[in-house]
Formats: sequence, structure tokens, C-alpha cells
Amino acid sequence: ALDPSSVPKYRTPLFLLDRMPGEGRDSYHIAIRQFRQQMLPIGMPATTVWGYGAVGHPQSFHTPGLTIEARVDRPISVTWVNDLVTSRGFYLPHLCAVDPTLHWANPPGGSAGRDSRPTFSTTPGPYTGPVPVVTHLHGGYSREESDGYPEAWYLPASRDIPRDYARVGTYYDRFAGRFRDRYGVRWRPGSATFAYSNDQRPTTLWYHDHALGMTRVNVYAGLAGFYLLRGGPADLPSGVLPGPASGRDGAHGAHPYEIPLVVQDKSFKADGSLFFPSSRGYFGDTPPDGPWIPSTDIPPIWNPEFFGTTMVVNGNTWPVLNVEPRRYRLRILNASNARTLILKIAADATAPRPVSPALPFWQIGNDQGFLPAPVQSDQLLLAPAERADVVVDFTGTPVGTGLYLINEGPDEAYDGGAPVTDFTPANITTTGQVMKFTVVSLASTDTSVPPSQIVLPPIPALPESRTVRKLSLNEEDSAYFTGAPTMDKLGTVSPSGSATPLLWSDPVTETPVKDDTEIWELYNFTPDAHPIHIHQIGFQVLGRQEVTGGASSPPQPGEGGYKDTVIALPGYITRVKVRFGIAGRYVWHCHIMDHEDNEMMRPLQVLDRHS
Ligand code: C2O
Ligand code: CU
Repeated sequence: ALDPSSVPKYRTPLFLLDRMPGEGRDSYHIAIRQFRQQMLPIGMPATTVWGYGAVGHPQSFHTPGLTIEARVDRPISVTWVNDLVTSRGFYLPHLCAVDPTLHWANPPGGSAGRDSRPTFSTTPGPYTGPVPVVTHLHGGYSREESDGYPEAWYLPASRDIPRDYARVGTYYDRFAGRFRDRYGVRWRPGSATFAYSNDQRPTTLWYHDHALGMTRVNVYAGLAGFYLLRGGPADLPSGVLPGPASGRDGAHGAHPYEIPLVVQDKSFKADGSLFFPSSRGYFGDTPPDGPWIPSTDIPPIWNPEFFGTTMVVNGNTWPVLNVEPRRYRLRILNASNARTLILKIAADATAPRPVSPALPFWQIGNDQGFLPAPVQSDQLLLAPAERADVVVDFTGTPVGTGLYLINEGPDEAYDGGAPVTDFTPANITTTGQVMKFTVVSLASTDTSVPPSQIVLPPIPALPESRTVRKLSLNEEDSAYFTGAPTMDKLGTVSPSGSATPLLWSDPVTETPVKDDTEIWELYNFTPDAHPIHIHQIGFQVLGRQEVTGGASSPPQPGEGGYKDTVIALPGYITRVKVRFGIAGRYVWHCHIMDHEDNEMMRPLQVLDRHS
């Protein structure tokens, strides 16, 4: 494996995620392909990755994907093509080991059958067949057919797929024959056309793969990108924020003062290829070049969380961005598998932790749009899938200054504890650093509004509700072997407080009625924090209370407005208020991708009316 300390830092200019080319403004043809990308600095080997790109625009293929720009209330459609095939039309196997002992897309129609759980064996070879994919617009108010349900996966239209393979997931059985007629959603071999209404507040969404039991490896291989939604009455007029004419009246596109940042952790092998554990013997804190301990007590491939050894931003390890002494709008996404980030801006990348920050963040938005008011903070806590929309003011910083985006989050599961004191902080010389800002001279006057003076648009509140749904997060022993606490699950909580952990395949228990407001109480009985994501809607965070009782604490300042992913702290009940607007089949799950792939995901059926 590649020693992360041998990778030189801050040589590669930050890759600016430009606009995804589309046909006109309203329709896109986006393929998933395998290609090579210089993720490590020049002079080191390139990396074979997967990424999204526009069909007919070979230069647009990149991981993370280029940014889809959309306008509020202006629908778009995207044809997502599974193009994981060779130039001769044969399917490409996965870049990572796929664990067939988990619930998963399970394409073979042979012994297991496409609708049954695979039979566990102590020696299952990793799956080497064609790769199922399905793209989800995270945070989008999508109809179910366009939501990227985990069982709505499809294989590439390759010519060598065995006859007994199911080419699409079981989800399509629900809609067989009806696809053409419903909302213009179409499925053809190797692709699906999804409709996005953009009928929601402007915000920082992202798209990523969501295939059942393979999300962690598909996203890790590269399948993620931003989807920025702008405009409408809930946006700011252009000129208020740094960046493009980003507001309700302007055009849109990539801009030097608005910088989307996808932060991820990855590990590499010496030849530059991506490292992903193919055995439980490699655990998060063991260097990937250490010996893999053959595992005898738990499924051989599964590992509960992946923690990489290098930090990658917009597809490059430890990049550098030249910034002028002015304000910037940064849109930050944590697209790591399992790593929770605690970001700060520091004058010295290797200063002892905790660092006293050189500049604050002015957070103006989160997952689902603007906050009620800007929040000044020294650090940003971002669990997987969470986003922060921030203004950083470099005004007055001398030219030539180097500033660093550093990470004080742990190299292991986040447990909600205070940094440094009760968990291992990220390694100061590797995963404790993210990227560098180098201050260069001012090119043009900054006319944006100072962040302390920004007045953000009003946010409609959800009505009061007394309908409470009690849900649980549990850690359970492995179903296969005793003494191996490897299964995280979601479930329900009875009025007396006892939890019933459930599997993905168990019958639906969450059946809210469309347009009803409900309070969801997430009882976290595990020792770790889990970022819980609910599809279709944004919700309001109400607060947290210890499971054992006591006072309830209000949401954190960055949790105002609406979110779609919330950190459920261990030992706490986390309360959110939700209201679904579209009937249909969706999911809710933990967004530690390794967890959602291992039973920490449940179906959700939004009903049309009370029965
Ligand atoms: Cu970001 Cu269900 O996913
Ligand atoms: Cu989790």
C-alpha cells in the first residue's frame, strides 16, 4: 500500500467542478464510466476510478462528477447510463471487493434468486459480475420512480451478461409496463431516465449511487457529484453572496468566488489504484499495508466502517487553491464513507490539536438551504452526506499567506465526544489536513455583503404535531456468529421503550400519510453517532434528549432551517419534524455508507391518505 506520508501535499491545484454539459438546460445524458484520473500528485501513478460525465463530452468525465446546475421550479430530466463496459462491450467488474454476504443488489438469477437473500457461506468469493448502479439525488423532492430506490438498480447493456441474470432490480416489478406512462420516467436496458421537479428551496444537493448493498463501494469508486439548485423566492438576490449571479434573478455556472468542495478520504495501493479492504482482517486503524488477518468469526469481506489514509478534495489528494483577499462562498460536502469531519481554518497545518482557528466560517446554509441567519463558528462538524454553505472572508489577509483547511475529526467512528479528549483525533500529518488556501493579490473589488450583515430569506415552519414515531438505532451481534457486534440496524421503539431491530427485508413499518406532520424520535442505542437521512423531504431538527431522560437540548446553530441528514448522537433521542409531500416508496437510513449497506436502512411507504 501507498504510505500516505509519501504523498506530497499542496502541489495540485484544486479541481474546480464546472457545470455538467446538458442538452439545453433541461435534459442531461449522463453516463457512468471507468477511466484514469490523476488523483495523486503529478509524478505519482494515476488511479483507475469511476465517475459521471456527459455523453458526447469525453472531457467531462471526472470524479467527483461535474455539477448539475438547476433552477427552482424548472424541471429537468437526466438519463443515467450504466456504461461500465469495455470498449468492446463486455462488462467491467467492480474496482473493489463486493461482499455477497450482505443484502445487496444480487443480480444473479441463479441459485440465490433475485428476490432472495444470498445464502451465507464462509468462503464466498467476491462478486465479479456486472455492476448494478442506480443514482439518487440526495435531498431532492423526487417522485419515487426517480428517487433511485436501492432495488431500482440496473446492469450495463453489455453483450456478455449471462442469460440467468436479472438485469434490473426487483423495484421495477412494481412498475412493469407502466413506466412509459408515469411522469415520463423510462427504463431501457442499461439506463434510466429520471425526472427532477426542483420544486423545493434552493440548496446544495448531491447525486450519488444508491445500489443495494453496494453503495459504499460504488461511491468510493467515484460515483458522486454536486447538484446545485438556485433561484426562486427563497434565494438571495444576486450580488449579496460571493460568486456567480447566484440569486433568483441571475444566470448560473462555475465561478471563481463560489467553490464547491467534495471532501473524501481514500487509500491507495503503491500502483496508484484505490485500496478498499477485501477482508475484515483490515480494520479502520490498521495501516492498509499491514497484514490482513484472515477472519474466522465474521463474514470475510465486510468491514463495519472504511477510514482512508489520505484526504481527497474534488478528486485530488491535498490540493491547493489560490484565493484573493476577499470573500468566498464554499459549498462543502462530506462524501466520505464513514469519516466525520471537524473542519477548521488554521494558520499552521501541523499545529497541535485543538487548533485555534485563523479565520471563522460564516455558515449561511446546510443540507436543505439557508439558515435563518448567518452563524459564525470556528469549526464545521460534517458527518457523511451533510453539507455546509459557508462564507469565508480572506479580506485583509496578506498576499503570500498560506492557510489550511484542517480536520480534527477522528480516524474512527465519531461518538459525539469533544475533540481530542475522548477520541483519537485525525492524524495531524495526514487525515488531519484537507487542503490549502494560498492568498494571492486581489483581481477585482469585492462587492458582496459582509457575512455578518447578510439577511437570509424567511423560512416557512412546519405546523405543530403530536404524532410521534419512535424509531431505534441498534448494534447487534452478527446474525451468523456470536460475539461479533457487526450489524447495525434500524427499528421501532414500543411505548414502553423497548426496541425491535428490523432488517431491510422486513415489512415496512414507517407509513406516514402524505401532508401529515410527524415527529420522528431517533433512539440511538449504539455507542456511535449515526447520520440519519430521510428521503424525499427536508425536516426540521427539534433537539436532543438523553434516552434516560433529562432536559432536551436545542438544535446546534448549523442545524437551523431544514436538513435532510441529522447526526443521531449515541445515548440520545434525536427529534426531527417531518412532512412528506408525495406518496410512494422511499427509504430512510444511516449515511455511513458501510452501515446503510449492512442493514442500517429501512423502507418507508408514504401513504396517500389515512386508511
Ligand atoms: Cu445520500 Cu439515501 O442517500
Ligand atoms: Cu450508522
